[in-house]
Amino acid sequence: MNSEIVNNIHPIFDRMQSREEKEQQLGQRGITVWFTGLSGSGKSTIAIALEQRLSQMGILCRILDGDNVRTGINRGLGFSEEDRRENIRRIAEVCRLFTHTGIVTLAAFVSPTQELRTMAEEIIGAEDFAEIHVSTPLEECERRDIKGLYAKARRGEIGDFTGISSPFEEPQHPALRIDTTNKRVDECVDEVLNIIEKRIKL
Ligand code: ADX
Repeated sequence: MNSEIVNNIHPIFDRMQSREEKEQQLGQRGITVWFTGLSGSGKSTIAIALEQRLSQMGILCRILDGDNVRTGINRGLGFSEEDRRENIRRIAEVCRLFTHTGIVTLAAFVSPTQELRTMAEEIIGAEDFAEIHVSTPLEECERRDIKGLYAKARRGEIGDFTGISSPFEEPQHPALRIDTTNKRVDECVDEVLNIIEKRIKL
């Protein structure tokens, strides 16, 4: 950033209510649960069911997902490497804000490369980040083709499509890997809850 701009910015963090105060008020700890995987792998479906479950437990949470964010804060960004990087950078900053408000933040983004996921983890902070790889194979995602995008990508009507004409690098050490091919949504939710339950308790 231009140094003149930086010099004229005066953050007020020291006078704002702290994260700890907010977490005490909510009775929970903030965290970002980061779902990565191919389009159609089940990221948003799991996040939505998890939100319901957490909500029943009295936990405040917030879902952020690709299709929503890309029509709002990230409208205008495409799927080039550069645009995906800016997409994930902004999302990670938003996740950090929610997490520091004590909210359990469920982020469902393809985030196809290790570089992008590492950037997200660095922005959010490793202690507040749980990576879940929704590892449903391409053949199954393409068989489902809920949005009809794989068919379009195969016909060459969409370029840079993850899994078809743009790479997906599998995460090496996710906190959890879930292949949704033969699993019910509530089983997937149980598995994620197992990983995060301790981390959202005060
Ligand atoms: S990311 O790669 O930058 O993390 P993001 O999760 O925001 O992607 O958006 C992915 C969603 O956008 C997909 O679920 C799909 O619905 C849609 N989409 C449209 N074009 C593409 C594309 N070329 N590659 C991947 N997803 C696409």
